[in-house]
Amino acid sequence: MPAATRSSFDISPLRPYPHRMPDLKLQVLAVAGSPRQNSVTRIAINHLAEKFSASDCDVDILDLQAEALPLYSPDTAYSAPGFKALQARIDRADVLLLGTPDYHGSISSTLKNFLDHFWHEFAGKLFVPIVASHEKGLTVIDQLRTVARQCYAWTLPYGVSFADSDIKDGQIISDVFRKRLEMMYHDTLVYGRLLAGQRRADLAGTEPGFMAKHRKS
Ligand SMILES: Cc1cc2nc3c(=O)[nH]c(=O)nc-3n(C[C@H](O)[C@H](O)[C@H](O)COP(=O)(O)O)c2cc1C
Repeated sequence: MPAATRSSFDISPLRPYPHRMPDLKLQVLAVAGSPRQNSVTRIAINHLAEKFSASDCDVDILDLQAEALPLYSPDTAYSAPGFKALQARIDRADVLLLGTPDYHGSISSTLKNFLDHFWHEFAGKLFVPIVASHEKGLTVIDQLRTVARQCYAWTLPYGVSFADSDIKDGQIISDVFRKRLEMMYHDTLVYGRLLAGQRRADLAGTEPGFMAKHRKS
């Protein structure tokens, strides 16, 4: 296209995007969002966390039953003890595995309370929904997609749901569920690395993408 007819909406053909980042060490934050002591969500999250650790990712597990957060209030949350340390863990993450039970077709209040504490920290990152549900958890997954959209995060194009009966004595006993987690693990590695590489490049760059406003000047 001749330079005279190019508009500011044209993407520069001279700047290739980093489609493959095999060396990038993915930072995974695995969030277990059930308040229940014997939570099956936690077992699924821990199973995935182990797989990512074995693939040379940095994995940080945030179990919201063990590390309970105070009820979010904009007036008190940011000065609460522990907030800065938790914020640093979110800042470090490229990918957030978000595990929740289905409560009335919604995400748990425990997970929602965590999500409410942050927003720009999520921008450009990948949300990965895992839902314990007797009903496929589709409305729950949709809610996580809504949160992601509001916070400029990406999601996998699907979530994985499972029932309590897929887990027995702390072990996954369903081959179908294990296979779905294998697929999710694979896709998270592939798309997590792509998005993390692009997010880092966008933060370091000068182009007017949606990450521009998240650059630290
Ligand atoms: C308050 C409450 C509401 C629930 N609502 C639903 C629901 O709407 N649909 C559903 O399939 N399961 C529902 N359940 C069942 C849980 O989602 C299910 O038992 C899940 O496996 C619990 O996960 P956890 O062991 O990680 O806490 C509900 C459970 C509770 C405690």
